[in-house]
Amino acid sequence: MRNKVTIVGAGNVGATTAQRIHQLGYADVVIVDVVEDLPQGKALDMLESGPVIGSDALVTGSNGYEESANSDIVVITAGIARGPGMSRDDLLLTNMKITSAVTEQVVKYSPNCIIIAVTNPLDAMLQNIYEKSGFPRNRVFGMAGVLDTSRFRTFIAQELDVSVEDVQAYVLGGHGDDMVPLVRYTTVGGIPITELMDDDQIQKLVIRARQGGGEIVALLKQGSAYYAPSASITQMVESVLLDKKRILPACAYLEGEYGITGLCVGVPVKLGANGVEQVIEINLTEEERGALQNSADSVKELIDVMAKGGS
Ligand code: NAI
Ligand code: 2OP
Repeated sequence: MRNKVTIVGAGNVGATTAQRIHQLGYADVVIVDVVEDLPQGKALDMLESGPVIGSDALVTGSNGYEESANSDIVVITAGIARGPGMSRDDLLLTNMKITSAVTEQVVKYSPNCIIIAVTNPLDAMLQNIYEKSGFPRNRVFGMAGVLDTSRFRTFIAQELDVSVEDVQAYVLGGHGDDMVPLVRYTTVGGIPITELMDDDQIQKLVIRARQGGGEIVALLKQGSAYYAPSASITQMVESVLLDKKRILPACAYLEGEYGITGLCVGVPVKLGANGVEQVIEINLTEEERGALQNSADSVKELIDVMAKGGS
């Protein structure tokens, strides 16, 4: 029997993720959205690509959660993007309400699933989903670090004219402008990046990675990135379904790691069949630890706004 992955939200990120997982061929996919007929139409279109791409996996679209019952993984991409005249807090509170309603249904229909949060603002939404779900922390985590790191790796590979496969890096902290690319842990073919680039070059790439989401928004004019985000989600889904135990940056609920308690922040984790099987604590310098704490403080500000905004 194939695994079952549900994607909530049939928009750009949700639909592209569904397509990528269907293409893997070993998991059936259910797409849920509130817009009538939209998930059904996208699912049928993807299903009809099966004979061409060689995937027997099923794709089903629905406006309810019955079809999603007993999913192994549920990816939550449902939400709204920030529009003209909307404050960051408006987006926060609207998406908080959406993710609360979605989580209630997910828990009801798939009580044993692993939830991967994607909706922005990611760290705050994960905190909301984690608290509403009542799941243990290993079964609720968020995608952002793989994307932020992938952007950083892309820019480094371009700058040095080397394969993206040989660039390893970590971006920690919240999914915002104060995320923390860890230069000290960035290597190219095992060689520390500091031996291959000067500090100015590195700092330019750090800034570009931090602003990577905004760079795409500015180019697209409407909506935000979805190709790299869906690839990043799929890598996390694969690590869980195949119990690969990859070490990836993910947003996780911290219980004292890195001196942070009771907050969802991006850190390196081991991702396997049980979800977050380990939060990996790496040595940070005073400066790196300060930057991570600064990023965590920004997440906490949003969580305080959510607490005041009610549910
Ligand atoms: P989109 O606007 O294309 O799709 C959102 C979908 O959610 C829409 O189809 C909408 O109908 C649906 N939706 C709204 N309320 C719903 C509900 N209650 N139940 C089910 N579906 C519902 O947006 P896109 O580009 O797919 O992005 C989705 C979210 O992911 C946004 O919040 C975006 O900011 C975030 N994002 C996060 C990234 C990350 O690294 N964590 C990367 C890229 C996007
Ligand atoms: C990104 O970083 C919008 O969070 C999304 O592209």
